[in-house]
Amino acid sequence: MREGQKSKKGIFISLEGIEGTGKTTQARLLSERLVEKGYEVMLTQEPGGTVIGNRIREILLHVDHREMSYMTEFLLYNAARAQHLSEKILPALNQGKVVITDRFTDSTIAYQGYGRGIDIELLKSIDLIATGGIRPDLTILFDLDVETGLQRNKGINKVDRLELEEIEFHKKVREGYLKIAEAEPDRIKTVDASLPLKDVSEKVWEIVRWRLGI
Ligand code: TMP
Repeated sequence: MREGQKSKKGIFISLEGIEGTGKTTQARLLSERLVEKGYEVMLTQEPGGTVIGNRIREILLHVDHREMSYMTEFLLYNAARAQHLSEKILPALNQGKVVITDRFTDSTIAYQGYGRGIDIELLKSIDLIATGGIRPDLTILFDLDVETGLQRNKGINKVDRLELEEIEFHKKVREGYLKIAEAEPDRIKTVDASLPLKDVSEKVWEIVRWRLGI
C-alpha cells in the first residue's frame, strides 16, 4: 500500500463503460454540479491525465499501431495509470478533492481481460503494482448495447485503434463490465445509458448524492 492512500481525504469516483455511452459528457456534467455545491473537483481521464500519460495514450490509440501485442497494450495502460495516480490522483485526494476519472482499472479488466482474454488474476497482480491497490470509492458503469454505442461514436467521427476492433470484441467487453459490476455491487452502480442524456445525468447525480450523503 502506498503512503498516500493512508492519508487520503477526498472521494475517488470513476466512470466506466464501452464506447459511445456518453460518459465523458456525464463526467463534465457531474463535475459542474459538484462545483456548484462547493466541492473542489479534479476531472481527469485514462489513459491520459498527465503529459506522460497523454503520450502513452497516443501510442495506445494510434490507428497505425495495429501490430501492438496484447501484453504491450496491457502494460502501457498500467504505466499510464501509475503515472496518473502518483502525479495527479493521489495529490488531489490528499488535498480533499473529489476526483472524477473517465476510466480506471475496471477498463483494463473489461478490455484487456474479458476483451483480449488476458488472465484476470495476472491483470490483478500487475494492477496491484501499478496502483498499490487503490480503488475508486464509487464507480458508475454506463451500460449500453454495443451497436448503439459504436453508432454514436461514428456520428461524432471518433475513431481510435480499439474502436476499430470487431463488434464481438466490444460485446465481450460489455459482458465483462456487467460481470465486474455484479461482483462488486457496493462500489459499482450501473446506469442505463440508452436513456436521454438528462435522465442519465439525474441518475448519476442521485447516486453521487447518496454516496456523499448530501
Ligand atoms: P476513451 O476513448 O474512453 O478515452 O478510451 C480510450 C480507449 O482505451 C477505449 O477504447 C478504452 C480503452 N482502454 C483500455 O482498453 N484499457 C484501459 O485500461 C483503459 C483506461 C482504456
